Amino acid sequence: MSGSDSLSCLSRVARLVLLVLIVGMCRSLGAQAPTPSPTPTLSDSEAQRQARERMVHEQIEDRGVHDKRVLAAMRKVPRHVFVPPEMQSHAYADGPLPIGYGQTISQPYIVAFMTEALELKPQDKVLEIGTGSGYQAAVLAELVREVFSIEIVEPLGKEAEERLKRLGYSNLKVKIADGYRGWPEAAPFDAIIVTAAPNHVPPALVNQLREGGRMVLPVGRLPQDLIRVRRTPNGVKQESLLPVLFVPMTGEAQKK
Ligand SMILES: C[S@@+](CC[C@H](N)C(=O)[O-])C[C@H]1O[C@@H](n2cnc3c(N)ncnc32)[C@H](O)[C@@H]1O
Repeated sequence: MSGSDSLSCLSRVARLVLLVLIVGMCRSLGAQAPTPSPTPTLSDSEAQRQARERMVHEQIEDRGVHDKRVLAAMRKVPRHVFVPPEMQSHAYADGPLPIGYGQTISQPYIVAFMTEALELKPQDKVLEIGTGSGYQAAVLAELVREVFSIEIVEPLGKEAEERLKRLGYSNLKVKIADGYRGWPEAAPFDAIIVTAAPNHVPPALVNQLREGGRMVLPVGRLPQDLIRVRRTPNGVKQESLLPVLFVPMTGEAQKK
């Protein structure tokens, strides 16, 4: 291994350790505050726009996400509207944040990285498993024709649905359910993103990918492996993208 390889390996490990700490903090904060906070106002100040611009430049572009449409969506969606009021001053910080019920809104870099990895086209139909705050769903809705998002924790899903409606997203549907078996009535999908980690790739989700479709999901135990699954004419191909740390996928996934 060269010096720069071991340095970049060290920095990956350091980032991972930091993520473990932040998510641990988020989960314990989430566990202490299970009641959803009132929806924050939709206002977007000049200071918040500037913070978002810095977030995109320093946390996302500088780390190698270059898809112009993804960067534009990350610049546009007001992340502070998706976090509880007491977390708003941290909305553009470089990490996940607690959103209640022991759940988190993902780190902005990971949202951008996963969105870029989906290789989205404007006419695509996308499925998300794990609506959470609705932030990732909003980013997707900026980029594609139709978004379907499933959340297992009812109050979180309802709150996200209401927030997304108030922000004016009309190309997006939220369903309260276990996403392990996907959304067969709306399949096939051009892309699927899973934002909670199962310990295996859910077969029903692979089956709901259109030929040529891409799925990006965290899989396994800590650290999880962020993988991309492609459905090609020659079968299903899988590649490993990044070590990550997500909350576990609950429901049926945990019984397998
Ligand atoms: C890391 S959070 C998602 C962040 C979210 N995408 C956002 O932008 O805020 C993971 C979410 O997946 C949800 N989840 C976990 N298991 C699930 C399942 N089987 N089906 C649907 N949602 C699930 C959790 O309740 C949680 O809200």
